[in-house]
Amino acid sequence: MTQVASSAPVVVDIDGLWSVFKSLQGTAVIHQDLNLRIHRGDFLTIVGGSGSGKTVLLRQMLGLETAHQGRVTVLGQPAGAMAALGGAAQVGMLFQHGALFSAFSVLDNIAFPLRELRGLPPDLVRDVAMVKLQMVGLDASHAHKMPADLSGGMIKRVALARALVLDPPLLLLDEPTAGLDPDSSDAFCQLLRSLHAELGLTIVMVTHDLDTLFELSTRVAVVAEKRVLINAPVQDVLAYDHPFVRDFFLGGRGHRAMGLLQERPQSV
Ligand SMILES: Nc1ncnc2c1ncn2[C@@H]1O[C@H](COP(=O)(O)OP(=O)(O)O)[C@@H](O)[C@H]1O
Ligand SMILES: [Mg+2]
Repeated sequence: MTQVASSAPVVVDIDGLWSVFKSLQGTAVIHQDLNLRIHRGDFLTIVGGSGSGKTVLLRQMLGLETAHQGRVTVLGQPAGAMAALGGAAQVGMLFQHGALFSAFSVLDNIAFPLRELRGLPPDLVRDVAMVKLQMVGLDASHAHKMPADLSGGMIKRVALARALVLDPPLLLLDEPTAGLDPDSSDAFCQLLRSLHAELGLTIVMVTHDLDTLFELSTRVAVVAEKRVLINAPVQDVLAYDHPFVRDFFLGGRGHRAMGLLQERPQSV
């Protein structure tokens, strides 16, 4: 794996990871000796074919999957141990189909991880949830709406506020702009970009949307052949000679998004 050295502290360290699923149909090896190191302040985008194991990789970082072999260390701890301690304070996750609790208001959805901690004064819980609501660009008038009354872009924002309510230093995003119309997608990208900068977050994002990738990534990791082929700044990945990389970046969508790259050089 190609890796440019960084002096920032390591936030995610995956070493020799095997992810294996066993079923009646047999054994499926999803990751085979996969290595990935992510430094503080990175906005790392993971790309790879459908079914290549991108979501499983995020779930490994959350401690929701077990490593068949190898180590997954997040913020200095084994990922599984962190999950057992209630990992939401350390790692926020925006799931791809991260639906809100439909019977809870916007504010109660955002407050949910705070209430799980128990014992916090209700006024404090409400105030913190309100601050997070505003942080994701929604004003207080939305606090008592129900999820069914929100647009797709607003649902993503509320889910993001919930993921960040305990101020985790690490945020994982699985296809955050999938299903959004282009304007909502652009607006959500701008929000992610400003939160990354303002909160000093480390962000790991899976996306197949090239506009989103070029807009936000400080680095790109390519998952193929059951491992991370390259983890490098986007320009280096573009120059990497591999069939997946060529198809992904140089197909029709890729050419359009590359035009965007020239207009808007990386400044994250
Ligand atoms: N809990 C599971 N049990 C069995 N197979 C799984 C499980 N989770 C994921 N897989 C398989 O692992 C592979 C990678 O899945 P995934 O990480 O979701 O792919 P993607 O890169 O599209 O996000 C797929 O073949 C999927 O069917
Ligand atoms: Mg996936």
